[in-house]
Amino acid sequence: MNAALPPSLVLVGAGKMGGAMLEGWLALGLAPQAVTVFDAHPSDDIRRLCEARGIALNPERADPPAMLVLATKPQTLEAVAPLVEGAMSPDTVLVSILAGKTIADLTRRIPTARRVVRAMPNLPASIGAGATGAYANEAVGDEGRAQAHALLSANGLVEWLASEDLIDAVTAVSGSGPAYVFHLVECLAAAGATAGLPPDLAARLARQTVTGAGRLLEASELGPETLRANVTSPGGTTAAALEVLMGEGGMTPLMREAVAAAKRRAGELSG
Ligand SMILES: NC(=O)c1ccc[n+]([C@@H]2O[C@H](COP(=O)([O-])OP(=O)(O)OC[C@H]3O[C@@H](n4cnc5c(N)ncnc54)[C@H](OP(=O)(O)O)[C@@H]3O)[C@@H](O)[C@H]2O)c1
Repeated sequence: MNAALPPSLVLVGAGKMGGAMLEGWLALGLAPQAVTVFDAHPSDDIRRLCEARGIALNPERADPPAMLVLATKPQTLEAVAPLVEGAMSPDTVLVSILAGKTIADLTRRIPTARRVVRAMPNLPASIGAGATGAYANEAVGDEGRAQAHALLSANGLVEWLASEDLIDAVTAVSGSGPAYVFHLVECLAAAGATAGLPPDLAARLARQTVTGAGRLLEASELGPETLRANVTSPGGTTAAALEVLMGEGGMTPLMREAVAAAKRRAGELSG
């Protein structure tokens, strides 16, 4: 087992994101007997995983863990707070991935929570390719932060933030970002169909283009600007398209507006 991982862990909410995180932790070597899962309606997959690995699922009681990861929907905070309160001690580090819920919101609803990390993962966490922005309050301390880092790293990149208020911007960029990229695939496929390709062929080409470009970006030491410039011959076809995408009303202002809307929405979820 990775020595930096927390010695005991409770996961509250094993849905899409919580379930993906759990799989990442187990793959990293977190001991199943160190984990307890609470979920109001566990999916068949989670039931099977817990049974196969000997993970306690919804036990009557559990000892307060070193770390408790809260991964229910933000709207459920009030309902889930008593369960969280009862499961932890003041020494437990609470790691919340609830979009928009501030440390002040969390400690108001869960008075035992003193040591709090807010983390914002994203969907590729399920294949270990996630991007997580995280902020720890002072009480978390170096050891708690190292344990949170080890745990969150099981799902990909972890970036620590200098202030909590950056979390809403992280939510708007990487938290929601995978959906923007999926939409890009849809738009490219639709444009391909309009340009005359059979729609299913356009969809396959668009999907592989975005996947391939992502993998190239990952494999390359070059930044996206250089990779883009390298495939753009002056006066060529790519240049003609980029004149539209990078022109007035193109992707720059559109993305700025989209990210601002997501950030605003994250702010509205607090309380
Ligand atoms: N999905 C993403 O891409 C993403 C990205 C970044 C952050 N997040 C954050 O991740 C969190 C979870 O999102 P999700 O998409 O994984 O949601 P989800 O699939 O609905 O998972 C939440 C799980 O918690 C369970 N639950 C609800 N109330 C509970 C309670 N009182 N006690 C115990 N379990 C309870 C739910 O059961 P029921 O189904 O029965 O309600 C469900 O299994 C959200 O706060 C979101 O902001 C998600």
